[in-house]
Amino acid sequence: METITTIPDLRERLDSERRTGRGIGFVPTMGYLHAGHLSLVATAVAHNPVTVVSIFVNPLQFAEGEDLDSYPRDLAADSAGCSGLGVDYLFVPSVEEMYPSPIDTVVKVPSVAAPLEGVARPHHFAGVATVVAKLFSIVGQCRAYFGAKDWQQVCVVRRMVSDLSMPVDVVACPTVREPDGLAMSSRNVYLSPQERVQAPVLRASLDAGLDAIANGETDSAVVEATMAAVVNTASLASLDYAAAVQADSLVSDGPLHGEVRLLVAARLGKARLIDNDGTEI
Ligand code: PAF
Repeated sequence: METITTIPDLRERLDSERRTGRGIGFVPTMGYLHAGHLSLVATAVAHNPVTVVSIFVNPLQFAEGEDLDSYPRDLAADSAGCSGLGVDYLFVPSVEEMYPSPIDTVVKVPSVAAPLEGVARPHHFAGVATVVAKLFSIVGQCRAYFGAKDWQQVCVVRRMVSDLSMPVDVVACPTVREPDGLAMSSRNVYLSPQERVQAPVLRASLDAGLDAIANGETDSAVVEATMAAVVNTASLASLDYAAAVQADSLVSDGPLHGEVRLLVAARLGKARLIDNDGTEI
């Protein structure tokens, strides 16, 4: 595995791989890789002749007062994990390399970015879409792997790729969970032992929503109330939202139908956790 820190170097390597007919798999990350990230990496390695993983804690997607400075980092462990899985290139640019001057061009996908996470974090998805657009422009034609745990992020990236005709095939991979159902997240390290015990309540709330739908419920408000009631059983959890929506638009447009996504967000102490799952009606 080669570690690359500059944009021209990565472009040069990947262009020459493509010239020899080798397709590129790309896994964009912010590092502190857990089993969820590593499953994306393993999938990319299995399905593509060449795999590149990027590690970049993107300042644009953190608002003032969020955890940019304290965001967990461990490049040595990340590098060992990627190299052990057969990654070819690890791209670790500095902030100066990515943003040599304050960025003036911002990519917004307002309809998909506005609800849910967009309410609590109004600037977050513009930061995500902008850095992902920039990474796609650096990496070039590729298959890009994202975790379904960040479902709204997947929707934003898919819409951006489609609207801007980017030569990228976006692949959403299943959420990887702890044995008790908690979705893997770099931010789980913020949970106290007591909060960690209650954190699987998000998975339980999704299960309750899925059960309601399996029993014939199509009223999103009823499914959402069912999900919320489960989160509210956890004394340390403060519910942010529980939503039952159409999977690609992220809104409900009448009775739930077709591909439906349930999404939940709650704060437990310092950690703000999100989770989601889908079903078809
Ligand atoms: O999901 C993440 O880790 C980030 O939002 C991403 C896609 C790497 C962009 O910074």
